[in-house]
Amino acid sequence: MAEPVDAILAFHNAFRNDMGQIDTAALDSARGKEGLAAAIERFRFFNEVLVWHADGEELAIFPALEEVAPLVAEAYAKDHRGLDAAFDELNTSYIARDPLRIARATAAFRFHLMIHLYKEDTHLYRIFRERIPLPQQGKAVGIMASAVPQERFSEVVMWLVPLLEQEDRENMIQIWHTMMPAPAFAGVKELIKKAVGSDWAELTRRIPTLDE
Ligand SMILES: [Fe+2]
Repeated sequence: MAEPVDAILAFHNAFRNDMGQIDTAALDSARGKEGLAAAIERFRFFNEVLVWHADGEELAIFPALEEVAPLVAEAYAKDHRGLDAAFDELNTSYIARDPLRIARATAAFRFHLMIHLYKEDTHLYRIFRERIPLPQQGKAVGIMASAVPQERFSEVVMWLVPLLEQEDRENMIQIWHTMMPAPAFAGVKELIKKAVGSDWAELTRRIPTLDE
């Protein structure tokens, strides 16, 4: 059974996956390969989601953690400012149309992101899981989700789902199902169907209620 925090960990995996592809495209482009603009430009939406995610953590997760583990979250908020700086450098490089500088910026962004997410998964969210009762975990994750502007939610679903492995997809679907009113979940189900394409059969095999 998925726990609320599994939704956050799924987003972390999507960030890793997307940034990995962006960085690879930037390196190939710096080496002279053509036709990678769209792959590199994914960094814009990637960063929008990353900022909503970080804002949500700072709004809901870090204050909850402060109660049970004082002074831990402060370091992670500082990491977030480092991610902001990494984006600014990438954005400036992209506007300058400088392939080598873009590739250096994606490499730096990727490295900082990977270390940050690794620390969150194995330290910050370990403390969160161990010291905060499950109902409060769910409440915090619910508040965090509100950091995504309502009118952009479907874009987030369409971005997220293709970047996930089956297990994370399954967890996300379970969590959305539990947290959303039925009509909203029905809408999300349609988006997921569109996002996964031919993987829909495998998903409904794993979650038979999805096809009802
Ligand atoms: Fe974070």
